[in-house]
Amino acid sequence: MRIGVLTGGGDCPGLNAVIRAVVRKGVATYGHEFVGFRDGWKGPLEGLTKPLGIAEVRGILPRGGTILGSSRTNPFKIEGGVERIKANLAEQGVDALVAIGGEDTLGVATKLNDLGVKVVGVPKTIDNDLNATDYTFGFDTAVNIAMEAIDRLHTTAESHHRTLVVEVMGRHAGWIALHAGLAGGANVILLPERNFDVEQVATYVTKRFQVEYAPIVVVAEGAQPLEGQMVLHNQELDAFGHVRLGGIGQWLAEQLEEKTGKEARTVVLGHIQRGGTPTAFDRVLATRFGLQAIDAVHEGDFGKMMALRGTDIVRVPLADGTGELKTVPISRYDEAEVFFGS
Ligand code: F6P
Repeated sequence: MRIGVLTGGGDCPGLNAVIRAVVRKGVATYGHEFVGFRDGWKGPLEGLTKPLGIAEVRGILPRGGTILGSSRTNPFKIEGGVERIKANLAEQGVDALVAIGGEDTLGVATKLNDLGVKVVGVPKTIDNDLNATDYTFGFDTAVNIAMEAIDRLHTTAESHHRTLVVEVMGRHAGWIALHAGLAGGANVILLPERNFDVEQVATYVTKRFQVEYAPIVVVAEGAQPLEGQMVLHNQELDAFGHVRLGGIGQWLAEQLEEKTGKEARTVVLGHIQRGGTPTAFDRVLATRFGLQAIDAVHEGDFGKMMALRGTDIVRVPLADGTGELKTVPISRYDEAEVFFGS
């Protein structure tokens, strides 16, 4: 078989580990051939390819990003997009695709599969918000980066008796904020799953100063105050209809400074959370997803997505992964609340 591979949506550490596993097992065990499509769905849409064989995947296991490039191109938003993809796949002699992506990329994969394109999906996102899998690779790396940042911020916050507000990514799910906040010993964690009362946050912050420690407040980019509108820098939508989040940290620091009388500063971790080398956990998960994905292609088990259930890698219908977002259950937030303000 000749198999196309693409990576779409926001990148994350571990994408290269998947590509490597797919190609290594595909060539060595099954004798398949590969072609890389550049920049997500833009590749098959515009016929942008890249050679992909054993030589091309050597040394990429620890590398962040993706050797194939990525984009948020949505072929269903482009006139004749599906027909162009089908024509380019035929021209390249591609029998099947491995699409590595999050909700949006796999949403396109689901629709294309329904329209006769043979696709197998591999879930990725630092946000960990895909419903069908216990974890996505990229999440553990992002959490560790945020945790290390929080550890460092504790010491400088103490020295200057300041509040430090750390804004983390995660879109509409608070997984990164919850895990990084718990692991880093944050004094308050604010998630998109529960609107926060800024007065209550100010009380926690004041309490923390009273015991002579400086507070670290971790806020997810999608968190919102009780009465307000979401605070956004930019209301533009991408091709999948998502707004660009960010700005809540700065707003919150200003509020806290005013309400507590103590200096408050903001650190926006942003794309640092998506860059650099994957953790061991993410390398192993990505590798296992890749191995299972090429098995699925070889067996003709299309329309499936790889998923982690407990410690097993299983195949589930693509549509299961993209239907509903996996958000943080309130019971998990309640666990964390025990540590707030103390
Ligand atoms: O979905 C991954 C993610 O990093 C989100 O956490 C974040 O909201 C978004 O992508 C940022 O997207 P971009 O890289 O396009 O700014």
